[in-house]
Amino acid sequence: MQNITTDFLVIGSGIAGLRAAIELSAHGRVIIVTKDIPTESSTEYAQGGVAVVLSDEDEVGIHFEDTIKAGDGLCREKAVHVLVEEGPQRISELITWGAEFDREGTKLAFTIEAAHSRRRILHAHGDSTGRELERVLISKARADKNIRRLPFCTAVDLIIERNRCKGGYVISAENGVCIEAVSTVLATGGAGQIFSRTTNPAVATGDGMAIAYRAGAVLEDMEFVQFHPTALFIPSAPQFLLSEAMRGEGALLKNKEGEMFMKRYHPDAELAPRDVVSRAIISEMAATGTDHVYLDLRHLDSGFIKGRFPRIYSTCLEHSIDITVDLVPVSPAAHYIMGGVKTDTNGCTSVRGLYAAGEVACTGVHGANRLASNSLLEGLVYGYRAGKAAAQRKTASFRTRNSMAEDNALVRESRTDVFTDSNEIRAELRKVMWQNVGIIRSKASLDKALECLSAWKFILGMDFTSRGEIELKNMLTIAFIITEAALRRKESIGAHYRSDYPSTGRGRLQHSISVAGDRLLPPA
Ligand code: FAD
Ligand code: SIN
Repeated sequence: MQNITTDFLVIGSGIAGLRAAIELSAHGRVIIVTKDIPTESSTEYAQGGVAVVLSDEDEVGIHFEDTIKAGDGLCREKAVHVLVEEGPQRISELITWGAEFDREGTKLAFTIEAAHSRRRILHAHGDSTGRELERVLISKARADKNIRRLPFCTAVDLIIERNRCKGGYVISAENGVCIEAVSTVLATGGAGQIFSRTTNPAVATGDGMAIAYRAGAVLEDMEFVQFHPTALFIPSAPQFLLSEAMRGEGALLKNKEGEMFMKRYHPDAELAPRDVVSRAIISEMAATGTDHVYLDLRHLDSGFIKGRFPRIYSTCLEHSIDITVDLVPVSPAAHYIMGGVKTDTNGCTSVRGLYAAGEVACTGVHGANRLASNSLLEGLVYGYRAGKAAAQRKTASFRTRNSMAEDNALVRESRTDVFTDSNEIRAELRKVMWQNVGIIRSKASLDKALECLSAWKFILGMDFTSRGEIELKNMLTIAFIITEAALRRKESIGAHYRSDYPSTGRGRLQHSISVAGDRLLPPA
């Protein structure tokens, strides 16, 4: 076991982790660990854009209202104020660092997505917004001598000593590494991979949430999973996202019979909230006996489509679909988790020395349903804030290096287990979650999920040294937590829909909490 000491440990190299690391580097040495190549993250695949008030026709108060409305009563107002008020400064800073957003002439170009009452979404290279943000942040981090990046290193668990986080364990391709740090920022992104249909990349296995849970941190609002209405539906192709911005620019949804249907479900039709559109699609699929509906862009100018959505156009073409002339088969897929590690507006978790930012965190900013394109902004604003707060802890002391390393090596040696069928269990788990804890839930479906998950409970007591098995354990942990939280919430609110409790109940204003162990502490 290798032992490394640093000032700050950041886990994850998406928008939140990179922004936190850049802030921390002014105060000490930073190590960023990331489990794949540095760019592999949800950030890299973000298409539609980043919502921010930078247009003359917009106001932060309106962005605030739209966010609160989308969150269906459960947003933390303080967190939303921070997001919308600090967002413009963070984006302007990115532009000075070299981010190139699309422009009309010399002015920034804004698009619109569901539930926004203004055109406020900046985009880059048409539909490659996340890639542009990741490019700028990675090159800034690369140029920073205080930041050391360790790719292909999977964080396994946190080092917890006297209820305080003092770094983390990671496994690299060669060995285990114990990284001692004064403060640790979790920025591991979401958990979409626990569902068999998801827009998320393979790295999104809920690791940070499971790691924090095992360390005694509080998780919040884990039942709220957002399903994106339009992922490509071709059995042989990946579940590639077809951005909501396409509907923002006029694309229409049609059922198997070629009929437009959204007006029957919501006055905002194609731009209704995502949960409404996803359920409408499920209902149309059931009524017409099919497993998909269509996105229709054929009435839009083909030159405009190719220029505005170049990445989507070329990806669909690889699968023999020309989106300028063909109907595009789509169906919903798990996309984003509103819940996560509970933090305050400075990224502080309930474990001292542990901070969280981005999709892994729950600041309460998204409430029960996220407003489209608010998460890149959240990663920037709260990554910056978590970095700033984590830097304040620089005075904490380390245990002696050897004693920490020895303890950890002992733990690893005595608890490394092996089993053979992790890939099959992973596939089965994802299917169970999609079928029973997906867009429409009920007590019966959630009980069924718990029964299936329980068959694999033995995995939770095991320790592993391979990335795939570590991920499986984390996926199972998060699957249990989501299912149990969904069972407890006996009402339909935001993205959580229970067919046996279709209306909003008395819990509308109550956040749900999931905690393990007895190491709970008040926020640092
Ligand atoms: P990520 O960007 O996912 O980064 C997580 C990082 O943690 C990765 O580097 C990963 O490798 C690493 N990691 C994970 N586990 C471990 C571990 N155990 N050890 C070490 N490293 C680990 N939002 C918008 O606002 N606008 C959009 O247009 C938009 N489009 C989207 C399109 C797609 C296809 C998807 C999937 C999401 C989209 N979202 C969009 C959501 C948004 O992209 C994400 O919520 C956001 O990028 C999350 O950023 P993050 O930094 O929290 O996590
Ligand atoms: C999209 O482009 O549709 C995704 C936007 C988001 O998830 O915020």
